[in-house]
Amino acid sequence: MKRYLAFFWIGLVIVLVAFIYTPVIRDMPGMESRGQGGMGNFSQAPQNTVSMEATPLPIPPILEDQNPDPQKAEFHLSAKQSSKEFIPGKETETLGYNGDYLGPVIRVQRGEDVLIKVTNRMDEDTTIHWHGLEVSGEMDGGPHSVIEPGETGKPAFTINQPAATLWYHPHLLHKTGEQVYKGLSGLLIIDDNVSAGLDIPKDYGLNDFPLIIQDKRFDSEGKATYDLGMRDLMMGFQGETLIVNGAINPFVEVPRGMVRFRLLNGSNAQIYELTFNDQRAFHQIASDGGFLESPVQMEKLVLGPAERAEILVNFSDLKTGDEIQLLNQGSAFMNLVIGKESDKKFTLPNQLAKIEWMDEEEASIKREFVFQGMGPSVNINGKQMDMSRIDEELELNGTEIWEIANESGMGMMGGTVHPFHAHGTQFQILDRNGNPPAPNEQGWKDTFLVYPGERLRVIASFDQKGVFMYHCHILEHEDAGMMGQFRVQ
Ligand code: C2O
Ligand code: CU
Ligand code: CU
Repeated sequence: MKRYLAFFWIGLVIVLVAFIYTPVIRDMPGMESRGQGGMGNFSQAPQNTVSMEATPLPIPPILEDQNPDPQKAEFHLSAKQSSKEFIPGKETETLGYNGDYLGPVIRVQRGEDVLIKVTNRMDEDTTIHWHGLEVSGEMDGGPHSVIEPGETGKPAFTINQPAATLWYHPHLLHKTGEQVYKGLSGLLIIDDNVSAGLDIPKDYGLNDFPLIIQDKRFDSEGKATYDLGMRDLMMGFQGETLIVNGAINPFVEVPRGMVRFRLLNGSNAQIYELTFNDQRAFHQIASDGGFLESPVQMEKLVLGPAERAEILVNFSDLKTGDEIQLLNQGSAFMNLVIGKESDKKFTLPNQLAKIEWMDEEEASIKREFVFQGMGPSVNINGKQMDMSRIDEELELNGTEIWEIANESGMGMMGGTVHPFHAHGTQFQILDRNGNPPAPNEQGWKDTFLVYPGERLRVIASFDQKGVFMYHCHILEHEDAGMMGQFRVQ
């Protein structure tokens, strides 16, 4: 009880301080559809304050597999300190895997045995976590699996889940936000028979583009330093300038036909609301953990931190040389230049994948996870992360219903949206406040936004052994302790 009181008082003080220093509490555009209000991580509609000539979109390279055996793969990554000119002539410190910023794409086949050698060439500890991958706790790269400077971690696992666009990033206790912000993350793509058999664009970098969307806060010298203020502890670290694959205001030539984008919100805290400047409709074909059953037509995509979506967009109505922009909350941050007509013609498939829907009746247990507190007192179920404490004990191969509620900061400033994520499995969303999830959330999910006052019910089976994390994927919240551990055995 004392603990709750302490959280309450700390929370109250923070709220008052934040109020004093927050000049305007803006409305959250786009929240109408959800029916909830409040301030939070939607609020900083980023204007690219850095005005810059458009630069070509960097396409992260696909990492070379060092193992000639087709059933096996071996990849080498090394995390390094570096620097980069996001703004020409202005250098800022960065971190990268095998490069200055971000990392290469690790591309694997379902069924493959994968070994990844990760060398830490930085002067601080790190870990590497495979977000969305179903592997044992030992290989999952959570805060227990520290790779010290000069050491090489050698996680190994067999890929046993459907085709999907996943990602990897560090998960060091209290330091995830900083290491990810500085540049440590990359995509991990799984292919399988289903993805191979679909008549959709799959020529990487030609009609199938990865888009890692992040935000940066540049100071007057063009440095993107990671200094947390009180507001950042409250709402997560957010910047005004969007970058895609590490570039500000990039452009890319796309074929005049059907194009696939694999979107990752790789930001620490910001939620994106993506549209095209001509309001054109597109189809979402995959959520975090793989293909949806069938394409979902939409004109706006909301993507929370760590969420992924694959979309198909048809540009065949445009002329070669036309330009289209990708917008976040109405502001352009990326340009698409329509190229030549593609020689490949695609028809939008009606059916993408077969998803086995889990039955509520099969669930043997229900658990509840409640987001509470604000700023430094953010917590789940009244507890902050403690490496030596296991919060939940799960039975191996059990099916469970998890109820996730967001009661954090309620009644004070309308609360904050928290993205819930858990390791080692993929969920299906049963309902949001009793209502079925939106069609584009009817698929495999490992991260989902929980709006203030909302209660989600999700279902999953836990088929991997070991200790795993569940947490808020606003990385400043995670680092502040909005995280817990579950053990499957
Ligand atoms: Cu994206 Cu616990 O991770
Ligand atoms: Cu994860
Ligand atoms: Cu949070």
